[in-house]
Amino acid sequence: MKDIRIGLIGTGGMGKAHATAFQNVPLVFGNEPGRPVLEIVADVDAKALERWAGEFGFARWTTNWRDVVNDPRVDVVDITTPNALHAEMAIAAAQAGKHIYCEKPLATTSADAARIVAAVAKAGVISIVGFNYLKNPAQAFARQMIESGELGDITLFRGTFDQDFLANPDIPFSWRLDRAQAGTGALGDLGSHTIAFAQFLVGDIVEVCGLNATKINERVVPDAGSGYAATAQSSGKMRSVENEDIMEFLIRFENGAIGTIGTSRIGVGRKLGLGYEIQGTRGSLFYTQERMNEIQLYRHTDPDREKGYKTIYIGPEHPGYKAFFGLAGIGLGYNDQKIIEAHDLITAVALGKPTQPDVRFAYQVNKVIDAVDVSCRERRWVRVSEFDTDVDQ
Ligand SMILES: NC(=O)c1ccc[n+]([C@@H]2O[C@H](COP(=O)([O-])OP(=O)(O)OC[C@H]3O[C@@H](n4cnc5c(N)ncnc54)[C@H](O)[C@@H]3O)[C@@H](O)[C@H]2O)c1
Repeated sequence: MKDIRIGLIGTGGMGKAHATAFQNVPLVFGNEPGRPVLEIVADVDAKALERWAGEFGFARWTTNWRDVVNDPRVDVVDITTPNALHAEMAIAAAQAGKHIYCEKPLATTSADAARIVAAVAKAGVISIVGFNYLKNPAQAFARQMIESGELGDITLFRGTFDQDFLANPDIPFSWRLDRAQAGTGALGDLGSHTIAFAQFLVGDIVEVCGLNATKINERVVPDAGSGYAATAQSSGKMRSVENEDIMEFLIRFENGAIGTIGTSRIGVGRKLGLGYEIQGTRGSLFYTQERMNEIQLYRHTDPDREKGYKTIYIGPEHPGYKAFFGLAGIGLGYNDQKIIEAHDLITAVALGKPTQPDVRFAYQVNKVIDAVDVSCRERRWVRVSEFDTDVDQ
């Protein structure tokens, strides 16, 4: 079995999820033609990093991410840093001939995402982007139902991603609220996952019209920490929030379906309010990530006396589940999606075959984000093709 050596950049929330996933791939699946090896990890704080690297079993660590990219022993560069750093890191990695595992959103602009797509294509390396919710076996089932025509023609996609982790105005400022580091707010951070659902299940979005709002306009600057882990200990200095808390937008798909996507990071009561309803001419699907082991299916062809949504429990018949359990209804969790994602990447790299969702899929998501953002600023419908670049030729 081939060793696939991982160079991880970033040891925050996602760095931990990725390292844990790689450790678990051979334990859960054990059938992949490659074995992930945690080779080297980079972050900016040397003291914390040494301990972290030891705990997660990385052979080496560095405070300079370029050491990871240029390391001849590294096969895959895994990028889990704030959004604005993805492009420079991914392009450098591709140029060094490394395969790429990058967190979402791929970049803060579709122009940067296009540069990543071009670099990956030129280098001929494999890529995967962290739209991990697509890896829930429920989504493979949903896609099979749609592709097989069982739901008829898809007429409507209604998607959400609401969370309330920023609902409290005392939560301090962090990189997610900084336009230069994050790009858009709820849209890129959360809504990107819903756009990925729409794109994966229904098809490409061609036109959007958005409306957004920032409800908590400034937050206290923390003395320490980043991301969800920032502490509120502070001198009391305030900083303006630079991107939106809430985003709602209308969408038109290439295949004629229409829909809406709504997302909020101050959506009180919603913990992981990611989901959708997809309606077709012969049937419909309803899914919410808060009950990620179920999907609701309605068949319009059922006899009238039996019509109604029924609950499908995710089980071994749904792609990806069997490696965990042989019986339906036991249930997977968030990290299991990451294990499936890491498994797909390791398999693709070992076999030298592309996998999904790759950087091109994520570039398309970035174009939709840009279109929605411009639509809000200019108060008009925006065609996604306004953001086409050379890589669309
Ligand atoms: N797929 C998902 O479900 C999901 C969930 C959360 C976050 N994310 C994405 O993951 C990425 C990271 O988010 P997070 O929540 O882990 O953030 P975080 O703030 O917890 O972690 C980011 C880490 O990057 C490090 N870092 C910053 N600059 C660096 C540099 N120049 N070199 C090396 N390390 C550097 C920070 O020190 C920190 O440890 C973002 O792109 C975010 O959108 C994805």
